[in-house]
Amino acid sequence: MKKWFAVIGNPIAHSLSPYMHDIWLSEQHINASYIPIHVEEGKLADAIQSLKLLGCSGWNVTVPYKEAIIPYLDEIDDSAKGIGAVNTVVKTDDDRFVGYNTDGLGFIESLGPLDQTNRILILGAGGAARGIGHAFKQVGFSHIVIANRTYANAKRLVEELQLGQAITLEEAEATLGQFDIVVQTTPQGMKSSSATLPIQLSQIKEHAIIADIVYNPLVTPFLEEAKKYNVRTVNGLGMLVHQGAIAFKYWNGIKPNTEQMVERLTEQLGGNYVNR
Ligand code: ATR
Repeated sequence: MKKWFAVIGNPIAHSLSPYMHDIWLSEQHINASYIPIHVEEGKLADAIQSLKLLGCSGWNVTVPYKEAIIPYLDEIDDSAKGIGAVNTVVKTDDDRFVGYNTDGLGFIESLGPLDQTNRILILGAGGAARGIGHAFKQVGFSHIVIANRTYANAKRLVEELQLGQAITLEEAEATLGQFDIVVQTTPQGMKSSSATLPIQLSQIKEHAIIADIVYNPLVTPFLEEAKKYNVRTVNGLGMLVHQGAIAFKYWNGIKPNTEQMVERLTEQLGGNYVNR
C-alpha cells in the first residue's frame, strides 16, 4: 500500500511542509505522499482517530496542537517530554504512536557546525525559546542564557530546563558582546515594519551568529539590523527545513538533502516573502 504522511494544524493552508516533503519523497524514490490537514477547533480527537484508522504512517503537528496532542500518543521521547510539545508523530512497526519534538534540534542543525563552548543568548521565554533552550542543553552546550521582557518568565524557564541564567532585555543589550550565538524568538521578528527591536545590537560580538526563528519575512527587521555588523545572520527557514529533515529520517530512515531545500525554498519564497 502506498504510504502517506500529513501535517495537522489550524491554519494549515500556507504550510511549506507538503511542498518540502513531497520533493524529498520523490528524490528518495519513496512511494508516498504528504498532505496538509486543517483540523477545526475541538476536532483534534476525531482527526487523530481518523489518521490512525486511515493508516497514516506519521504526521507533523503544528500550531495550535503541539501540546494538546500528547494525551493521544502511546509514548513521547525525551525531547518532547522536556519541551512539553510534539511536532512529529511516528507510527512504529507494532502500531504504536510515538511523539518527538524536532524543532529545537532542527534549529541547532540549521546553524551548521558549532563549538559547544559557544555562549548562547535566547531572546524570549515562550514555546520556541523552550524548544531551542532544551535542545542546546541536550546537545551539550553549558552556557545558555534566557533574556525576556518579563524577567519572571525567563527565570521560570531557566529553572525548569536547568539552563544557565535569566536576564532582562536591558541586561542582554548591555552584555551582548559576551555571546557567540543570539537567537530571536519573540513575535517582534514578525513585524514587517521598522518595529522596535527587542534589543539594540551595538554591543554585538564580531563574528557572532544572529538568528531569527521567523522566515516570513526572510529578512526580519532584527536580521536587517544585524547585517550592519560583521556577523552571520540566519533566518528561520533552515529551522523549518531541518526539523522536517529529522522527522523525515524518523519516518523513512534516510536524511534528505537540507542545503538544497533551503536554497529552493528561499528561491520559491522570493524577495522578502510577505504574503499574508
Ligand atoms: P512562542 O510560543 O511562539 O515562542 P509566545 O509563547 O507567545 O511565542 O512567546 C512570546 C515571547 O515573546 C515571550 O517571551 C514574550 O515575553 P513576555 O514573557 O514578557 O510576554 C515575548 N514578547 C512578546 N511580545 C514582545 C515584545 N513586544 N517585546 C519583547 N518581547 C516580547
